[in-house]
Amino acid sequence: IYKWHYSGLNRWHGAGSTADFQKIIQERCDTYTQTIRPGSRSRNCQAIRQAFMSAFISKDPCKATKEDYNSLINLAPPTVPCGQQVFWSKTKELAHEYVKRQRLMTLEDTLLGYLADGLSWCGEPGSSDLNIWSCPDWKKDCRTNYLSVFWEVLSERFAESACNTVRVVLNGSLENAFDSMSIFGRVEAPNLRPQVELEAWLVHDTGKPPSDSCSGSSIRKLKSILDGRNVKFRCMDNLSRDQFLQRS
Ligand code: APR
Repeated sequence: IYKWHYSGLNRWHGAGSTADFQKIIQERCDTYTQTIRPGSRSRNCQAIRQAFMSAFISKDPCKATKEDYNSLINLAPPTVPCGQQVFWSKTKELAHEYVKRQRLMTLEDTLLGYLADGLSWCGEPGSSDLNIWSCPDWKKDCRTNYLSVFWEVLSERFAESACNTVRVVLNGSLENAFDSMSIFGRVEAPNLRPQVELEAWLVHDTGKPPSDSCSGSSIRKLKSILDGRNVKFRCMDNLSRDQFLQRS
């Protein structure tokens, strides 16, 4: 039992693969391509599911590379129409509520973002199954796990495709609304193309004072990353959640 516990499928510190992963991917893909965006080019959901599985099945779950996901992402690149793109950081629920009311899109409104939203997956060398018991945790096991690398590479491609004005919803109830270690800070902001304009919205919990503002040090840091890339920047702060959702 000792040996099984430490060398077996249970050894990682993160949640195991979502039950029925393949079935969920297939069903979400059918829903997305038939109901949510029937106008989108017809995608082959069986090929997408297969490419997703071959990215990580039978592989060391701590040795994920961006290249592992190339064929999957090339089947469905995460692009959205110019000017409709919304990034978020520590504001997932709010950002999704916001885009629902507008003609705007987050990464989770693209096919691959929609397929993987909230799911967990990893494999095991020598096995063709998913490990449903545990998957590597970013902090406790390894950063190069398949879940983290997936969101990083998908986010990178999403940011690279941005054009015109894009927005980011940041959490004004945190001391540092901009976190340079988050995916938005590490991957998306540094990959925006020159001439793109980023609008940052700092939104705080209704009924509480804000904890960060456009003139704070975290936003100055964001501004300096963008200045280095010739990305234009505008910042709006002191908005409560209710104000933000109503004006938007
Ligand atoms: N489902 C599950 N996990 C996700 C999802 C998702 N849809 N999107 C991101 N993740 C993971 C990533 O590992 C991410 O680091 O959850 C973490 C969310 O952390 P936050 O600090 O709240 O935000 P951030 O790291 O900035 O990531 C969100 O990245 O995925 C892109 O376009 C997305 O702008 C957004 C940003």
